[in-house]
Amino acid sequence: MPPERYSRILTPFSKALRKPKVDRSMAVTLKTPDEIEKMRLAGRFASEVLDFIAPYVKPGVTTGKLNDLCHAYMINEQGTVPAPLNYAPPGYKPFPKSICTSVNHQVCHGIPGERVLKPSDVLNIDVTVIKDGFHGDSSRMYYVGEPSIQARRLCDVTYECMWIGIARVRPGTRLGDIGAAIQAHAEKHGYSIVREFCGHGIGRKFHEDPQVLHYGKPGTGLQLEEGMTFTVEPMINAGKPAIRELSDGWTIVTKDHSLSAQWEHTVLVTHDGYDVLTRSAGAPPPPPVIS
Ligand code: MF3
Ligand code: CO
Ligand code: CO
Repeated sequence: MPPERYSRILTPFSKALRKPKVDRSMAVTLKTPDEIEKMRLAGRFASEVLDFIAPYVKPGVTTGKLNDLCHAYMINEQGTVPAPLNYAPPGYKPFPKSICTSVNHQVCHGIPGERVLKPSDVLNIDVTVIKDGFHGDSSRMYYVGEPSIQARRLCDVTYECMWIGIARVRPGTRLGDIGAAIQAHAEKHGYSIVREFCGHGIGRKFHEDPQVLHYGKPGTGLQLEEGMTFTVEPMINAGKPAIRELSDGWTIVTKDHSLSAQWEHTVLVTHDGYDVLTRSAGAPPPPPVIS
């Protein structure tokens, strides 16, 4: 099956998987030092939105309110542009809000709205900003009240999965090495990896090549080079890997209604390793499994 454009592969964008009339494949861009500085700035701003919103994630707040707060912060305080707003990959209607909020069994691309958060909810907030033409993309899990033991464990293991993937990043690593490392860690804990969505190159475009799968075989796939920038953003389910799309055309949920978690960073391949671009004062440190 041909990979879909957008970060996103395979079925959810199956609307867009009608045989492409044009070859939309693009080369992986290597960022110049000047572009990397802009990516750093965009990355920090994305992470700072996630810092900013944390104290508002409380029982009784709506996801729409979280959206409005983030939107205002981006526009008025940062002078950034929320990339999701009106974003419309092939086959999709424009995304109507400025952030994604995905609650409990929602996997990704949840649309903020009237939903009132309650204690025991866990949610992913995914922020992508544009600053000076470049994108920064990051997401975190938030606990609304006290999470269940199962929810906390899933969020923790998913965080480790993201970092285990990131820690592989250096020139010469293959994308399959990253995917395999993430997959092994998730499956070791009895969890499953969502296959239909993946990390993505990022820069002037929100979603560029390459596609960064969160599963795979070691020693396969594209070899990393200094100057590449891409996201690592595993979506991990407590139950089965299958997903479906809601009738809103965006929200992805687990088919079996099991809990799902996701974390995301934007990373740069440096001459001897990686640099996480979506860092800020409030970003949690790497997990013990890394250091
Ligand atoms: N931020 C998501 C990602 O990590 C993409 C969201 S697309 C949107 O790639 F339109 F839903 F915002
Ligand atoms: Co992303
Ligand atoms: Co994102």
